[in-house]
Amino acid sequence: MIKVKNVSKIYPNGARALLNINLEIAKGEFVFLVGPSGAGKSTLIKLLYREETATRGQVIINNTNLMRLKSRQIPMVRRNIGVIFQDFKLLPNKTVFENIAFAQQVLGKSKKEIKENTLSIMELVGLAGKRGSFPSELSGGEQQRVCVARALINRPNLLIADEPTGNLDLETAWGIMELLDQVNKYGTTVIMATHALHIVEKMKKRVIRVEAGKITEDSMGRASTSGI
Ligand SMILES: Nc1ncnc2c1ncn2[C@@H]1O[C@H](COP(=O)(O)OP(=O)(O)O)[C@@H](O)[C@H]1O
Ligand SMILES: [Mg+2]
Repeated sequence: MIKVKNVSKIYPNGARALLNINLEIAKGEFVFLVGPSGAGKSTLIKLLYREETATRGQVIINNTNLMRLKSRQIPMVRRNIGVIFQDFKLLPNKTVFENIAFAQQVLGKSKKEIKENTLSIMELVGLAGKRGSFPSELSGGEQQRVCVARALINRPNLLIADEPTGNLDLETAWGIMELLDQVNKYGTTVIMATHALHIVEKMKKRVIRVEAGKITEDSMGRASTSGI
């Protein structure tokens, strides 16, 4: 499903974030990206949803080479990818329902369809009673559930999460992990960058370690440590 081939990312300021990364992730996998701060985890994630482009190499998702996309093709590719961040990024003046429904309105679905889809995804993430609440009225864990719902509303086949539990206490973090695990069991590929090693150890999933822009360990034994 995902192929990252000989990818390097050098930011315009000269920061060498990724150095000749090679990686394959199959459909339905659950993969953790771990490694110290500044290692390149977020950069790798940004390449996967085409927030950034590689300086060298190829990023291929579902047979589409993201580096060759025209800008008008980007929304179509992103529709199949849900993204969750540490800092929620919810729209503060919209309700829970509106925050989740928003991505469906952009697709021009009917009101009835949007309502049905939004209510069913709210049920899935355990927010059925919160449809009229505003983000400021929710706990951190509830806000992150809204983000998960928003990421899933268009039924993406890939869910990417960058430190999704970074702002949550332990118990709330586990609630989010159970949700991601469930989503993965329904068939969605999940890629999650995290510092939370207790979570990584307990989940028993594939773990890819990134250090100084290189993959230094892959629990599936597909690491590439070749230099630039
Ligand atoms: N937009 C940017 N411009 C310049 N340098 C960046 C940018 N984003 C990240 N970097 C640099 O790239 C390296 C990797 O960062 P990042 O991918 O955020 O790592 P991580 O998510 O593992 O902490 C760091 O040295 C960081 O300072
Ligand atoms: Mg990061």
